[in-house]
Amino acid sequence: MQGAASKGYSNGYHQNGGHKLRKGNRGRRSHRDYGGDGSAARVFSATDDDSSPRPPPPPCTDFDMAYFHSYSHVGIHEEMIKDRVRTETYRAAIMQHQNYIAGKVVVDVGCGTGILSIFCAQAGAKRVYAVDASDIAVQANEVVKANNLSDTVIVLHGRIEDVEIDEEVDVIISEWMGYMLLYESMLGSIIIARDRWLKSGGLILPSNATLYMAPITHPDRYSESIEFWRNVYGIDMSAMLPLAKQCAFEEPCVETITGENVLTWPHVVKHVDCYTITNHELESVATRFKFKSMMRAPLHGFAFWFDVEFSDPAILPTENNPQSSIMESPNEHSSTDGSQRKKRANPSQALVLSTAPEDPPTHWQQTLIYFYDPIEVEQDQIIEGAVTLSQSKENARFMNIHLEYASGGRSFVKESVMR
Ligand SMILES: C[S@@+](CC[C@H](N)C(=O)[O-])C[C@H]1O[C@@H](n2cnc3c(N)ncnc32)[C@H](O)[C@@H]1O
Repeated sequence: MQGAASKGYSNGYHQNGGHKLRKGNRGRRSHRDYGGDGSAARVFSATDDDSSPRPPPPPCTDFDMAYFHSYSHVGIHEEMIKDRVRTETYRAAIMQHQNYIAGKVVVDVGCGTGILSIFCAQAGAKRVYAVDASDIAVQANEVVKANNLSDTVIVLHGRIEDVEIDEEVDVIISEWMGYMLLYESMLGSIIIARDRWLKSGGLILPSNATLYMAPITHPDRYSESIEFWRNVYGIDMSAMLPLAKQCAFEEPCVETITGENVLTWPHVVKHVDCYTITNHELESVATRFKFKSMMRAPLHGFAFWFDVEFSDPAILPTENNPQSSIMESPNEHSSTDGSQRKKRANPSQALVLSTAPEDPPTHWQQTLIYFYDPIEVEQDQIIEGAVTLSQSKENARFMNIHLEYASGGRSFVKESVMR
């Protein structure tokens, strides 16, 4: 999704320089419907008499407005579309599910430039509601028109929480994943779309997601940012070390590492089933971990990454058949057991979009939480602790990270915010 830390965008989201909030437009907004004939979409405005039984949508805050504004910049869409791992996996997933899409109604939650909606139209969808609250929806509509798809793809310029679609849908598609999977909190909008419109037995792409973490060593990175200050053109600048550590490692870093940086098998922080996950569950995610280092190395921190899977609804776990999709409980083999596989079993051979260090890089890279000081660990040394990821009270799109870790008889706490 985004490239804030590494791509020169500042202050979270995708700003290329300062952003302007669109003031005086809080709460419900009116929406533009660029729909063609036959759609069941309705322009919704603040003056509509809302007699529907559904609870009022959550307010659109200034933070949300800044977030949507960040997606009006072409750069972020270019970056996402040029990420071939991402875009080609989505296209392959759509084509693989053509029998669920052809002749059916689809909603694309956060359509951006409209690319996934157009893939769905190419797969034979009867109608696609392409919804985006960002002004990029204006361009999406132009792209749809230029491809002669206006009869099939109806662009709705508004929040998924606010737009009206007066029919049930067969398929929900969305590219909602943020750094560390949950940053940006866009999954909440997929839940809202699912609960508002998805037919029973309908398809959600992707269908499930898993967030992983693992301890890492990264001597080059530490040396380049920290050790550097020990000898600068022959001058001892070690006095800079505390500031350098704080500036480099206070907040999570989005960087690409490789499998060689990872000290042992990962731990599953959270598994998300898009058919059943609730917004309440996403407010705070907590897990305890226990790793056994497979090598002697300086431990510099933890890496987080995720994968998403595109499965048929029929093979997702149900109450009666809880093991139908995931053959093993994700952390069933404790992370201290060297026989553990690196990833979840994938018996259905479902298409997977992975952002793991050992897989081809994506624009999500990996999210690293570095320690201020490394811990020297021996082979087989235990690294254990707990992590809690919670939505910031101030802005639910920001993530508070509370990390407790212990190894070799010493324990530490690190608090950080991904903003
Ligand atoms: C990661 S981009 C994906 C764009 C496009 N689907 C693609 O794959 O290239 C997410 C898009 O979702 C939109 N979005 C996020 N939350 C939304 C919401 N609640 N309602 C409408 N649009 C939303 C953003 O404005 C952004 O354009």
